[in-house]
Amino acid sequence: MLQENLQQLKNRALDEIKKAGDLNQLRDLEIRYLGRKGELTKILRTVGELPAKERGRAGDLANQVKQALASEIGRVKKSFGEKGEGGVGEKEWIDVTASKMKDGFGHLNPVSTVQYELEDVFSSMGFMVLDGPELESDYYNFEALNIPSWHPARDMQDTFYVEGENLLMRTQTSAMQVRAMEKYGAPLRAIVPGRCFRNEATDARHEHTFYQLEGFMIDKNISFANLKAVLEVTAQKLYGKDTRVRLRPKYFPFVEPGVNGEVTCFLCKGKGCRLCKNTGWLEIFGAGMIHPNVLRAGGINPEKWSGFAFGFGLTRLAMLKYGIDDVRLFCGGDIRFLGQF
Ligand code: PHE
Repeated sequence: MLQENLQQLKNRALDEIKKAGDLNQLRDLEIRYLGRKGELTKILRTVGELPAKERGRAGDLANQVKQALASEIGRVKKSFGEKGEGGVGEKEWIDVTASKMKDGFGHLNPVSTVQYELEDVFSSMGFMVLDGPELESDYYNFEALNIPSWHPARDMQDTFYVEGENLLMRTQTSAMQVRAMEKYGAPLRAIVPGRCFRNEATDARHEHTFYQLEGFMIDKNISFANLKAVLEVTAQKLYGKDTRVRLRPKYFPFVEPGVNGEVTCFLCKGKGCRLCKNTGWLEIFGAGMIHPNVLRAGGINPEKWSGFAFGFGLTRLAMLKYGIDDVRLFCGGDIRFLGQF
């Protein structure tokens, strides 16, 4: 019975693949037969319910049909010009005489521009550029950063949790601190640009999705002076030689002492204007000396090593740089907004 069904399904699918007129139709067929809710997948699921004697043979057959269909779809796709692994489709070609793309060229998002600028600055100072998971464990995002489950600091960074899995959308790129320590040990110099998430009531200044750029440096005898020097160099590369950095105490559970970092307002040069709300300063990062508990979590001996960490609000930097007054525009997907930069 199942065998017959499979055979019929195979013939029908092969027939339809043969008749497919373009890539889109092929992709539809692929989803219809092989997709997660596809016909073949459904049959494969029922194999487990068969008596043990029949299960093996039926499973083999079903898998053979699956492979046959997948390989046929792959072959025809290629002939329609879809690139194979690292290759070029048979019917793909480039019109070297074409003068212009119909809808114009794309370009970098303002956040990417600022990100690359900072990557250049930090690479020049010997920092690695790391990437980390956006779906993170409670451990790396909170626990390892000296924020146990009962800690009130959790209230400031509510996020989206995966039910029952102890996984969450990371609220901060700081989640990569301990991961990097575990992987590379000390000494260590790295930055981590990336997307973060928070469960917030959104308004012009708050969004559920935004970008940060984390950085940390661990070595022998690293002090607060090193922290200030590195951030001053960075601010001056971004906003010019006259830029000054101001550090004021701020609590973050994973640093001690911790600070809020401000730079001279680049618009009014410190005189006071609308951008800096007449203070002359722009708040753009959090920073501090890495807490001994965090170093320990990363397998690094705090008696031997010390380090600093900082986190820039990348989205905020882009807003300041380009005079964007509503953070929600970044996730809005409005081409009229993006086309301006
Ligand atoms: N992760 C902090 C935040 O999102 C910023 C920070 C990074 C502070 C590193 C100190 C050190 O608010």
